[in-house]
Amino acid sequence: MTSSNLRFSSKLPKAKTTIFTTVGNLARKNKAIDLSQGFPNFEIDPKLKELVTDAMENGHNQYATMQGYYGLREIISEKIEKLHKRLYDPESEITVTVGATQALFTAITAFVNQGDEVIVIKPAYDCYEPAILLNGGIPVYVQLDANGYEIDWQALKSKISEKTRMVIINTPHNPSGRIFSREDMLQLQEILRPTNCILVSDEVYEHIIFDGKEHQSASRFDDLAQRSFVCASFGKTFHVTGWKIGYCAAPAELMQEFRKTHQFAVFCVDHPVQRAMASYLKNEQNYLGLPSFYQEKRDLFLEGLKGSRFKYRPSEGTYFQLLDYTQITEEGDEAFAIRLILEHKLASIPISSFNVGNRQDGVLRFCFAKKNETLEEAVRILRSL
Ligand SMILES: Cc1ncc(COP(=O)(O)O)c(C=O)c1O
Repeated sequence: MTSSNLRFSSKLPKAKTTIFTTVGNLARKNKAIDLSQGFPNFEIDPKLKELVTDAMENGHNQYATMQGYYGLREIISEKIEKLHKRLYDPESEITVTVGATQALFTAITAFVNQGDEVIVIKPAYDCYEPAILLNGGIPVYVQLDANGYEIDWQALKSKISEKTRMVIINTPHNPSGRIFSREDMLQLQEILRPTNCILVSDEVYEHIIFDGKEHQSASRFDDLAQRSFVCASFGKTFHVTGWKIGYCAAPAELMQEFRKTHQFAVFCVDHPVQRAMASYLKNEQNYLGLPSFYQEKRDLFLEGLKGSRFKYRPSEGTYFQLLDYTQITEEGDEAFAIRLILEHKLASIPISSFNVGNRQDGVLRFCFAKKNETLEEAVRILRSL
């Protein structure tokens, strides 16, 4: 109930309920198997719960430091150095955030001014554009082709102008499951070298990568690292999306600016959870074991789809698989996704809403971060179509 004297204009007039909420609600109402949203339906490691409980019992229940618990920043720094050979100073170059979402939002808010352009590669995860718009920025799109989702670097280069403040990338990429190769990153580095652009590198699926490939973090490349915010998510890595904890790493000068916004928007992140993460990260198997864990699930899902009418290219990373359904129906992806829920009790995400101009590619996204029996049941339904 609002006062009749109250007048306001929306800062995000075009924002509506996201497709995740719409599909999720419909899935729950219809008791559908839910392969739509990107979260696991299996139990988390009991050790993690123990560690959080211990932290609470040991009295870590008040504010942590603004940048994040030092012990956690220290081990994050060691992990990045070990994996990508780049040393970030835990004191000045790493900040713990409320999930990657807050890292992304804060990096955008700290640097995008009215009229600045930000390059967004579509289809894109949905939190980048609202953050750009709220800060008066202008998203400039590079649309990937549904036939392989390869990036055309020349197309991206042609979008860069005097007004470009930032470029946002996401590898491994949600929703396509494609990854940027070393050559891709080198091309990006050459394109950005003469510019004044900040790179925001969304690497939340950094540890979910298949077929022996390696994650090419922006932190691996000298010139990219000097202009980048590398954003990561413990929620994704440790199957605890509901804990909303992540971090970002950036050179001190950039991080100093980031923290000016961070300290007034958030100040600090859940303290006991930070303590737990710091201990849990000590066992590197907890993240290095992820590729084989998820590759098994991807393969189970795809093996089951052999002989079905779906076309696909195996996901290279993330826990998403795109399926092209154009041999089954000519329906738009939203209509087909809704029909799948209502008639077949299976939920997925139509990706047209992540494309420029809601382009229809006849593709749905399925999340395979699920128990094997859930995947087997989903496969049974998909094979029947
Ligand atoms: C590409 C991408 N970036 C960021 C996020 C958000 O991560 P977090 O839950 O840590 O905020 C997600 C979550 O689905 C994602 O897919």
